[in-house]
Amino acid sequence: MTVAEAKAGLEFKPGLEGVPATLSSISHVDGKKGILEYRGIPIEELAAKSTFLETAYLLIWGQLPTTEELTAFEHEIRYHRRIKYRIRDMMKCFPESGHPMDALQASAAALGLFYSRRALDDPAYIRGAAVRLLAKIPTMVAAFQLMRKGNDPVQPRDDLDYSANFLHMLTEQEADPLAARVFDICLILHAEHTLNASTFSARVTASTLTDPYAVVASAVGTLAGPLHGGANEEVLEMIEEIGSVGNVRSYIDNRIARKAKIMGFGHREYKVKDPRATILQHLAEQLFAKFGRDEFYDIAVELEKVVEEKLSHKGIYANVDFYSGLVYRKLGIPSDLFTPIFAISRVAGWLAHWKEQLGENRIYRPTQIYTGNRNAAYIPLEERQFQADSPDAN
Ligand code: ACO
Repeated sequence: MTVAEAKAGLEFKPGLEGVPATLSSISHVDGKKGILEYRGIPIEELAAKSTFLETAYLLIWGQLPTTEELTAFEHEIRYHRRIKYRIRDMMKCFPESGHPMDALQASAAALGLFYSRRALDDPAYIRGAAVRLLAKIPTMVAAFQLMRKGNDPVQPRDDLDYSANFLHMLTEQEADPLAARVFDICLILHAEHTLNASTFSARVTASTLTDPYAVVASAVGTLAGPLHGGANEEVLEMIEEIGSVGNVRSYIDNRIARKAKIMGFGHREYKVKDPRATILQHLAEQLFAKFGRDEFYDIAVELEKVVEEKLSHKGIYANVDFYSGLVYRKLGIPSDLFTPIFAISRVAGWLAHWKEQLGENRIYRPTQIYTGNRNAAYIPLEERQFQADSPDAN
């Protein structure tokens, strides 16, 4: 379709903003009221009362599990936490300097080599793949962290819950109960968020009827970018760069004058404060009260105040990434693991969308508006002139 043809009919929306690309009953956002619900349940309820695994079950299978169902699900997850030694050996060959998101994307894709049966119409296969991905991704993230320091990975511990086990595998220490609960709530908060970039990517990949490991690997790659999951890492870099509460105002003024984005603020959907940021702020307060307040937290509070003062008229408020980095840092997690941790959580949402996509599948194949040349001549090599806009011009 050419520009002229498009003008006669279709409207192009950059970033597909506001364009419905699927029907979904998994989560709901009201960006004007600051509401987020998973399967109709407000996020505040889930953060206060649920666990990550129960929330994952809710997202994927559409209803809260009974006691028996939850116990069985948790048991299956525990059973599948270990990763094959060949995957560990493959990960040992990754460069230590590589980003953990790249390591995770490669490892998630590698699971498809080991569990390659593709029985998308078999509920047992769907459940097995969902369990494996939920169970093994934390183990892979923790394993890469230890191996890049030259250490052997720590085996999962069957006596520990999901989040306590992850923190144990990551830090080689038993987690404080408050730290484990706060971490689990962080996983609940990040588990699903309608048709964001990585979930859209997961659905597009799912629509080709490829395996779920490829679905998750493609979503991990999409989540890695700084405009999506990578933002919380950049929030901490920004706070470090600011250095003290006294520098906040001039830093923000400077960025606004340069029309530079302030990381951890703004959202395509929310035009009020992201409800997850409010919950995370309370969690951060609890952690800082128990483990000691530091200047990072004070800078963050001032930063939010100044950004609200300057940008709230544009609907720019703190998003989920603004406080999550602070929480993870207080839990002793290195900043380049923040996005892999986001992936540990969001895999629940991706799997829910994978399953939903399979239910009413039609391969994604949008159209484009062609802006290039038509019927151009092929110029023989010896007759070509150097062009000013050649990629080699400089
Ligand atoms: N800092 C300063 N100004 C901002 C910010 C920000 N963080 N976000 C948006 N704006 C301004 C834009 O400059 C623009 O101003 P203008 O109308 O005067 O030109 C206006 O607000 C609209 O911004 P868009 O970029 O068009 O908004 P969009 O919906 O496309 O972007 C996005 C949303 C990508 C999240 C953006 O706000 C951003 O880049 N934020 C920083 C990165 C970040 O925190 N990402 C994490 C998002 S949450 C998540 O993925 C889990």
